[in-house]
Amino acid sequence: MNKADVNKPKICVIHGPNLNMLGSRDKQQYGNLTLDKLNKLIRNKARESGFETSIYQFNSEEKIIKALQRSRKTCAGVIINPAAYTHYSYAIRDAIELLSIPVVEVHLSNIYEREDFRKISVTKDVCTKQIYGKKENSYLDAITFLSETLTK
Ligand code: DQA
Repeated sequence: MNKADVNKPKICVIHGPNLNMLGSRDKQQYGNLTLDKLNKLIRNKARESGFETSIYQFNSEEKIIKALQRSRKTCAGVIINPAAYTHYSYAIRDAIELLSIPVVEVHLSNIYEREDFRKISVTKDVCTKQIYGKKENSYLDAITFLSETLTK
């Protein structure tokens, strides 16, 4: 972080399980970018929009929940791709429900045009917005949304 970032509002970005494998996963669904490259795009867009970022990737549900709980005190907004947990983690849903800051659920792929089990998101109803099917732009549009929401 550079000194100028100290007073900027922070967006917490949480990538769920297997997203550390981007670049090796199904490119048709998830695009060509590695997680590092995706994070670079996220950081740049956030900086342009006046935000500092904390970006995490966790494969375990517990770590995702802990990051969400911490974000209550440290972040102005959250962008979360719960990955496979989207479809069945009531624990992550409850952790999101506790937050009073805006939370955007994002997916690289269009979860509504894939297998039936992916069409269910148990987390979306407690999120402020859901953005899906735009590959890396799902995350970038989430930053635009947070920027509009937080400056209203
Ligand atoms: C995903 C979609 C999920 O169904 C899948 O388990 C993922 C990634 C997406 O970004 O498209 O790991 O959340």
